[in-house]
Amino acid sequence: MITFLLNQTLKRETNISPNMTVLNYLRTELHKTGTKEGCGSGDCGACTVVLGELVDGKLQYRSVNSCLTFVSSLHGKQLITVEDLKNKQSLHPVQQALVDFHGSQCGYCTPGFIMSMFALSKNKPSADKEDVMESLAGNLCRCTGYRPIVDAALSLSSDQPLLDQFAELEQQTIAKLEKIESKTAPLVLGNLTSFSPTTIDELAELYERHPKAKLVAGGTDLALEVTQFHREIETLINVTGVADMKTIRETEQDIVIGANMPISDCYGTLAKYYPDFGHLLHRFASLQVRNQGTIGGNVANASPIGDTPPLLIALNARLKLRKGQQIREVAIDEYFINYKVTVQQESEFIEQIIIPKPMDSNNTQYFSAYKLSKRIDDDISAVCGAFNFTIESGVVIDARVAFGGMAATPKRADLCEKALIGKAWDKTTVEAAMEQLAQDFEPLSDFRASKEYRSKTASNMLLRFFLEQQTKVISQQNSHNFKQHSIETRVTSYV
Ligand SMILES: Cc1cc2nc3c(=O)[nH]c(=O)nc-3n(C[C@H](O)[C@H](O)[C@H](O)COP(=O)(O)OP(=O)(O)OC[C@H]3O[C@@H](n4cnc5c(N)ncnc54)[C@H](O)[C@@H]3O)c2cc1C
Ligand code: FES
Ligand code: FES
Repeated sequence: MITFLLNQTLKRETNISPNMTVLNYLRTELHKTGTKEGCGSGDCGACTVVLGELVDGKLQYRSVNSCLTFVSSLHGKQLITVEDLKNKQSLHPVQQALVDFHGSQCGYCTPGFIMSMFALSKNKPSADKEDVMESLAGNLCRCTGYRPIVDAALSLSSDQPLLDQFAELEQQTIAKLEKIESKTAPLVLGNLTSFSPTTIDELAELYERHPKAKLVAGGTDLALEVTQFHREIETLINVTGVADMKTIRETEQDIVIGANMPISDCYGTLAKYYPDFGHLLHRFASLQVRNQGTIGGNVANASPIGDTPPLLIALNARLKLRKGQQIREVAIDEYFINYKVTVQQESEFIEQIIIPKPMDSNNTQYFSAYKLSKRIDDDISAVCGAFNFTIESGVVIDARVAFGGMAATPKRADLCEKALIGKAWDKTTVEAAMEQLAQDFEPLSDFRASKEYRSKTASNMLLRFFLEQQTKVISQQNSHNFKQHSIETRVTSYV
């Protein structure tokens, strides 16, 4: 069973398919056809809806792609669609702005833009152009052109919160959401079942009882099995309600990320220690996908072109895996075995991702990451490289170099690292290491990039890292202030 608020109306659903997406639920069950289907795969944003959720007792609104969201994810939330924005006979300020700035022609993409703009105006009323661009990067318009749409969104920017009907009803909404029990019975239709555990113990026990079940976190990979490949998933375990896996915290030595933590909630903490990690996450898919997709899902999906694994490998991250009552920690570079094959056993799942903080108080650690894709926004990497070096007195003490898009799994460049460690940090060493990179990998050619392009750009990333870090290394050598920590990072895309 799922219980949620459809705008202000409490809905209980027991008789719908657990494989159904929110988009299909809206259009075919509720006949609310304002939300459009463009691609059905998270790429166009036409299906954008907003989910209201209680976080620490406060209402938080997030734009998500309804085509990637299974109905079970609605439990305990408020679903707001484009039909809900009009207030009596007046357009919502966001709708009015799009009209005033001529931001729509055929109008097919418009509901999605409206919902992304609505979420932005709720979350950041004083949004600047960068915020607007980020919030609209997951919405495609093929006929209006973006300038009037961006202008409309910018016109809403204000230092006051947006006072609309949702603001007026906020306390009422919170009270209604608080009444929904987080624990709920499974959603069952015929042979299809979806469980919604709320604790890690419950999840572990359920997964042992149903070893063939599929875990679903954000669903931004898994939902495609249903929407694109038309497969039926008999048993789903929706982990989004497991609150203890939706956390990010720091210990003295580590950053500990619960596997369920949406990517958009990870920027700040990661950027504090590794600015490039934070920047890269802003280049990960679109805001709608980052609002749902998790780092746990990105790792477990084990795609050779997933963005976070190369960075996690370079940073020597560990995974806390759990199966029943058994817990083990695995270094992430030992997790990936072969194409989409990992060391994870039946009924085992990722509970946490543990990233060591920079330990080096002498300011000799250098971390950079580079994502190479055809577009800046909403595009998957052709090659993603991460470099984590310790350089002291001009000598490479340690080097961890990892790439995605270069092999069947995200992988370290062993020969390249060997050619660097213990050597002087200069162009001769770097050129020798670049040659070794060609021995480390045999990339494939596909529609994203040819193997020659991948090899060339991967070795150029190392050269770029050298050139960018060179001045920092020299100034560090000359610096007497060993206390000040600086990890210089850049994320770049080449077309
Ligand atoms: C439009 C679009 C753009 C994208 N762009 C990018 C991009 O730029 N970079 C990138 O790397 N990826 C991208 N992706 C892929 C996807 O968004 C990411 O891989 C995301 O991190 C998956 O997380 P999720 O929570 O949605 O996983 P889900 O889809 O819920 O799950 C993915 C897999 O992980 C398993 N799983 C989930 N949680 C756990 C757990 N705790 N333990 C064990 N197994 C688990 C699931 O069973 C499933 O097999 C994109 C996807 C779309 C649709
Ligand atoms: S229909 Fe295109 S993103 Fe959902
Ligand atoms: S108005 Fe036609 S696609 Fe945007």
